[in-house]
Amino acid sequence: MMTLITFIPETRTFHLSNERLSYLFMIEEGGLLSHLYFGKKVKRYHNHMTYPRIDRGFSGNIPSINERGYSKDTLPQEFSGGHSGDYRTPSLMVKGVTGSYSVDLRYKSHRMEVGKPVLEGLPASFATVDEAETLIITLEDSLLNLEVELFYTIFKNQDIIARSSRLINCGNQNLIVEKVASLQIDFVAKDFDVISLPGAYANERHMERETIGYGIKTYSSKRGTSSHHMNPFLVLADKKTDEFTGDSYGFHLVYSGNHSFEVEKDHISQVRLVAGINDYGFEWHLGAGESFQAPEVLMTYSENGLNGMSQNFHHIIRDNVVRSKHRNKERPILVNNWEATYFDFNEEKLHPIVDEAKKMGIEMFVLDDGWFGHRNDDQSSLGDWQVWEDKFPNGLKHFADYVHKQGLKFGLWFEPEMISKDSNLYRSHPDYLMQIPGREPSPSRSQFVLDMGRKDVQDAIFTQLKLLLDEGYIDYIKWDMNRHLSDIHSLALIPNRQGEAGHRYVLGVYALLEKITSTYPDILFEGCSGGGGRFDLGWAYYMPQSWASDNTDALARLTIQYGTSLAYPISMMTSHVSAVPNHQTGRVTTLEARAHVAMSGVLGYELDLTKMSDSDKVDVIEQIASYKKIRPLVQYGDFYRLKSPKAGNETAWIFVSENQKEALLFTAHVLAHAQPYLSKTLLIGLNPDWDYRLEELPTGQLLGHSVGYFDSIYATQPMKNGSILSGDELMQMGIYNPIVRQDMATQLYYFKAID
Ligand code: DGJ
Repeated sequence: MMTLITFIPETRTFHLSNERLSYLFMIEEGGLLSHLYFGKKVKRYHNHMTYPRIDRGFSGNIPSINERGYSKDTLPQEFSGGHSGDYRTPSLMVKGVTGSYSVDLRYKSHRMEVGKPVLEGLPASFATVDEAETLIITLEDSLLNLEVELFYTIFKNQDIIARSSRLINCGNQNLIVEKVASLQIDFVAKDFDVISLPGAYANERHMERETIGYGIKTYSSKRGTSSHHMNPFLVLADKKTDEFTGDSYGFHLVYSGNHSFEVEKDHISQVRLVAGINDYGFEWHLGAGESFQAPEVLMTYSENGLNGMSQNFHHIIRDNVVRSKHRNKERPILVNNWEATYFDFNEEKLHPIVDEAKKMGIEMFVLDDGWFGHRNDDQSSLGDWQVWEDKFPNGLKHFADYVHKQGLKFGLWFEPEMISKDSNLYRSHPDYLMQIPGREPSPSRSQFVLDMGRKDVQDAIFTQLKLLLDEGYIDYIKWDMNRHLSDIHSLALIPNRQGEAGHRYVLGVYALLEKITSTYPDILFEGCSGGGGRFDLGWAYYMPQSWASDNTDALARLTIQYGTSLAYPISMMTSHVSAVPNHQTGRVTTLEARAHVAMSGVLGYELDLTKMSDSDKVDVIEQIASYKKIRPLVQYGDFYRLKSPKAGNETAWIFVSENQKEALLFTAHVLAHAQPYLSKTLLIGLNPDWDYRLEELPTGQLLGHSVGYFDSIYATQPMKNGSILSGDELMQMGIYNPIVRQDMATQLYYFKAID
């Protein structure tokens, strides 16, 4: 019994809807699929949105219909083929036996299923038969003997529609696919801004907002992975939409390779978005009877501003994308030795850090890069995943046992997709390295990329990892990737199939991950790629959390974490307290500020704990105890952005529990001023009728620099613990932000409803 998807035969209209969303499209004359609407639920649709027939001139017509007002060039469509009269950016370009790129797609049939089909070879959202329904439309190009299946899954209790496409070569000739999108959506009469998440190494995912101009703008990665540089995520928002009110449409690609989001404003100001695998260097040979599955895009609509849109994604990712058994479980507080020791460590040197971690209440020790092969710098050993005896003379298990005896879990760093020329793997299998015959492959961080599209390469890495993982002492894996793909070529493919190498790489990595995560389901995986270079939903499917950035500076993290939250839940975003001066920016911030920012994510520490002063150690103990108290609220509460770090001198966000009984407010005042303006923060998400008490959450000292005489003039104190305030007071009147004579002055306020 279909309750979420209806087909109205008289008007040939499909209506997907749950309690809050509607998505409508129809089969137009000649079998073209015409998009009608995506947005807030429409209870009863009366077929008035059929696209007006207007002769635009130079917008050609459909053969056999030949009506001047009816053109593929202007009709809002669900999925357009190239070179057949729609001059906008297409979703599909295929070369068939005629040698032309023309694709003419017409409706053939449709079917509906309860639940959600699995996407072969690709990570995707999942749903039980009670959670979602799926509509599958089959389009066909009868000349090419090509069928295109369009998948639309609507979730019952999530404001999400998942879309993807699948090609099937039904003929007996090879087809060459030059481009295949996952999603196309056409909007009519909408004046949007685009919000994207561009970035760089150590400066990932900062929110950028711009107007859409005429022409096409592409937001993409050509780096072989999703990259630090442009996240595979995009928002179309009404001009007036802010964090709290207004319409926004979010699009999230579940894929970790080259991607593109093309936004086109056409000659009559209609807007098209086409998203999926980047067609740069892509070419797929689809043999007779073969199929090609394009990755999935999750899309959402919210009328409650950008926060509403983000929360929709936070919920679906936590519940229906992260597949691991650690999904929705509290994540351990870890200490990682990377910034503490870099490559300069051995078992003996690590023991005191573990001892200190235990005293502080830390729950896991993570051994980072440098434990294998003969790796003492970044020049060697990638591909040789055997423990280096010089550093661990009694074996790694011996050390892991020590960690376990202290009551901590043990985590280990790997970079499985990479190879160093100075490695046994390279010496025995130089062909495993991705390279173009006759050309020197380009190094990056002195390392090279394994051709993961090859099954033998996947097996060689799996066999090595298995030897270690079978010993059963590894509780967590940090899966790193410290360069991008450049010499995209596979020695296992013939020359005219090299356009497949990039996507085959991604499929190969997914296949390896599928095998590892299903063989070792208890291991918690953390994604990493030189910080947050592969922070995407393909990765989230396998890895419940990811290292947000190598930049651990508290100030820089404001922008990174604020931007990341636009698309990803807090439970995915790891954040560490590191030493000062900060290793990336040289900035000195208080331990408290560093902790407040890191406690706004999945908390960890990344510094030599033994070198901290006694008073700092006491503060860390308090921070950890406090974080344990608020951890479910931070990792699984509703998160709202309040003040953007890009907008001024202040940043604020808040976590509110689902039952509204608890809230944690974070505020940061970046630069201190001699003559400061007073500012307030208005809370959100509380129950206006309840009273809340401010409870103590010890995290260290709010320092403020004492400069004698001036103290009496300026010190506004943070609110006192035990203060009682009502929800409406906090949300309507707000609170004054304290004035502290110190840069990067941060506060955490923990409110609990009074029963
Ligand atoms: C990059 C990661 O982001 C760091 O945390 C660290 O693991 C290094 N790689 C190790 O090479």
